[in-house]
Amino acid sequence: MKAIVYTKYGPPDVLHLEEVKKPAINEDQMLVKVHAASINTSDWHLLKADPFPMRLIGNGFFKPKNTILGVDVAGCVEAIGRNVTQFKPGDAVFGDIFGFGSGSFAEYVSVPESALAKKPSNISFEEAAAAPVAAVTALQGLRDQGHIQSGQKILINGASGGVGTFAVQIAKAYGAEVTAVCSTRNVKMVQSIGADHVFDYTIEDFPQNGQQYDLILAVNGYQPLSVYKRALTPQGIYVFVGGLPNQIFQSLFLGPLMSKSNGRKMTSVMKKANQKDLLFIRDLLESGKIKPIIDECYPLNKTAEAFRYFEKGHARGKVVITIAEQEK
Ligand SMILES: NC(=O)c1ccc[n+]([C@@H]2O[C@H](COP(=O)([O-])OP(=O)(O)OC[C@H]3O[C@@H](n4cnc5c(N)ncnc54)[C@H](OP(=O)(O)O)[C@@H]3O)[C@@H](O)[C@H]2O)c1
Repeated sequence: MKAIVYTKYGPPDVLHLEEVKKPAINEDQMLVKVHAASINTSDWHLLKADPFPMRLIGNGFFKPKNTILGVDVAGCVEAIGRNVTQFKPGDAVFGDIFGFGSGSFAEYVSVPESALAKKPSNISFEEAAAAPVAAVTALQGLRDQGHIQSGQKILINGASGGVGTFAVQIAKAYGAEVTAVCSTRNVKMVQSIGADHVFDYTIEDFPQNGQQYDLILAVNGYQPLSVYKRALTPQGIYVFVGGLPNQIFQSLFLGPLMSKSNGRKMTSVMKKANQKDLLFIRDLLESGKIKPIIDECYPLNKTAEAFRYFEKGHARGKVVITIAEQEK
């Protein structure tokens, strides 16, 4: 099969289209023919082994052990192991295969059934591949850490990227009043997916107008924790999703110290892929309550180019890789 392979850490130039062995399946796995995949920041970290501790906890110290990146996947089941009960050959599926060897920037992946769900029939493979990691992260940030409730005022910083566009829509699906922070070129897009109010961070500073929020989801952009804390209602919750290493450090270590046992809480989310949440997201997609926003689709042989675009940090929604027949 064809796959995008990397044998050393580095910039997107180290990604090459190669012919590799089709993966085998064991009795608990399925072989999935990949139709589309999408890029996540975790792929980028694994590509570059950046930050350095990624070499210790990630994919090998000197060179990558798993040589094919990609965790979001959408495709069709081609073969099943004898213990697989939920799917049959021909089923269209999607999911997050992080923790199962990754490798969705390829024509085939082998995965256990628990990583996948049936693809919603009303969306394309590209849209399905855009959803698992970003939507489940947004869901777990809002619901599990943020305890989102209908009628709450919610601020989403970094609302126009992969996680942010799902966060806006999931928060609206929960009945929240959403304020989105993004740049000028994305204002109309975040309004179109439901944001009630928009702050353009290139014109106005982060909301310092005294407005307070029940929940702040910090997906992108930087503000000191003290600024976020001031913008919370007395019982408000701040949830850190992503940012630079110093922001991760602050949120993990200072956040708990700044939290009050009976008041404002500063916490973070670490996405844990599971089939229950994937099914929850599938229902939202199928009901049309959320819709993946795709910036651009690149063919498999242009994956390096897709990474170059993604690493600029200004994708509008998701960057998708299409694994199409004509590339053979
Ligand atoms: N905690 C977890 O489990 C988890 C899971 C997945 C991802 N993450 C993290 O979440 C973060 C976002 O991931 P993603 O996939 O959504 O990234 P992404 O799609 O690459 O985000 C790009 C978006 O960020 C916006 N942005 C850039 N600078 C901004 C700023 N200063 N203020 C507000 N928005 C800004 C850009 O909008 P403009 O072009 O308008 O600037 C663009 O739309 C990453 O740090 C990632 O590592 C965490």
